[in-house]
Amino acid sequence: MAILEILTAPDPRLTMKSLPVEKVDASIRKLMDNLLETLYDNNGVGIAAAQTGIHQRVIVIDLGDKHNISPKPLFMANPELTWLSPAMQTTAEACLSVPNFSGNVVRPLEIGVTYLDENNQKMTLEVSGLMADCIQHEVDHLNGILYIEHLSSLKRNLILSKLTKIKRKQR
Ligand code: NI
Repeated sequence: MAILEILTAPDPRLTMKSLPVEKVDASIRKLMDNLLETLYDNNGVGIAAAQTGIHQRVIVIDLGDKHNISPKPLFMANPELTWLSPAMQTTAEACLSVPNFSGNVVRPLEIGVTYLDENNQKMTLEVSGLMADCIQHEVDHLNGILYIEHLSSLKRNLILSKLTKIKRKQR
């Protein structure tokens, strides 16, 4: 396994749409394992391959000890949201690609999702609460959307300008 470098905003690679996986084979399983190791190394709860510059529709989620939703960790290729509840929830979201910030995002409370698991089996899942929020956040990454796109333009621009300044100092 390997720890991958995580891209941080603003970076045009984070706005690119990821391509579907043809089959979950050994190379995709290796990618899933590397994403999991990267997730744990960064104390995150979810990660999309796109955040490491690999534009394949693969995400990995582990909400930690407080949320024993099986399967855990959750490996998904080609996740598709099939159903969104009319009921909404507000969650304070953060993202490994938007370090040191968080913001309240409103999303559907419950979702249905289909995906290929790490054994290339087609699975369906219905989840609510934090898991539903996290899957929607990661599927957004596959479509080139960061959670800050769901914030007001004022808050988004503030975060992006601060991140840009930090990047300039690091150069
Ligand atoms: Ni994220």
